[in-house]
Amino acid sequence: MIITRNQSEIIAAIKTAKTEKPDALIGLIPTMGALHEGHMSLVELAKNQCDIVICSVFVNPAQFNNPDDLATYPRTLFDDKKLLENNGCDILLLPTVEAVYPDGILPYEINLEGLDTGMEGTFRPGHFTGVCMVVQRFLEMVAPDKAYFGKKDFQQLAIIGKMAAIRNLAVEIVGAPIKRAENGLALSSRNALLTDQQRENASLISLALKNGMTNYELQPENEAIRAKIEAGFANSEFTIEYIAIVNNISLKEVAIADENCTVCIVVFCGKVRLLDNMQFADFASV
Ligand code: PAJ
Repeated sequence: MIITRNQSEIIAAIKTAKTEKPDALIGLIPTMGALHEGHMSLVELAKNQCDIVICSVFVNPAQFNNPDDLATYPRTLFDDKKLLENNGCDILLLPTVEAVYPDGILPYEINLEGLDTGMEGTFRPGHFTGVCMVVQRFLEMVAPDKAYFGKKDFQQLAIIGKMAAIRNLAVEIVGAPIKRAENGLALSSRNALLTDQQRENASLISLALKNGMTNYELQPENEAIRAKIEAGFANSEFTIEYIAIVNNISLKEVAIADENCTVCIVVFCGKVRLLDNMQFADFASV
């Protein structure tokens, strides 16, 4: 695995990798490190679809609205490199803040047509501006044919698709399924901040979603589904930040759920913020 630290190094590495196969397809997986099997499922998908797989590891200061969250974000570079190498990543992009933002973090304007106003946008103001800024920058630095993002971050995936369309970027944005632990907990870098017991108890999140969404067609009203999901957390150590039942395209809250909708949820376990979602299409009877 070749390690690159800035735009000229990544361009040189791609040029070398392309010498034998000039039309090689390039797949990019942007990450913030603390890598786990969820990230590796994106690498695997990219390996199946592309010839050269590039992964970036960069904890993007522009997308953290809470300085504590940035400071405590897990950093495990040594293990990340091993994991990527073992999973067949060809090139690792490991840039400094200066390489990503040579002129500093400048104001960034993008009209995401409301996709960024609810859910994460409400609770993490400015977050998606920072995400779009860094992802656009990586897409420009690497110029991949395909870029991979997890459905775990449902709103982020929709927003990045919109950003790529608005900016007219010649890249295909590919969404990858959520990878879960055996107990149903969606894999996340933040899970490392939980105790073993908390990680075990966190199976409650996917269970509550399943209980609330199974047979939703019998009672598809937003309030009814929400109440069932909320009930799953009664007397638990988890506090709900939000539950949103939204249309997959507009990301707007719906009154009546159908197979084109998703439930997005954030709960806190102590100070650790856990994000998950499930699609009604997976619970539809036909
Ligand atoms: P990060 O949280 O490191 O996630 C990198 C990518 O891995 C994202 O596309 C995320 O959705 C995906 N991912 C994480 N856990 C997953 C899981 N359990 N199953 C499937 N995919 C999963 O998301 C970011 O970083 C940043 O916001 C980034 C896009 C890199 C911009 O800085």
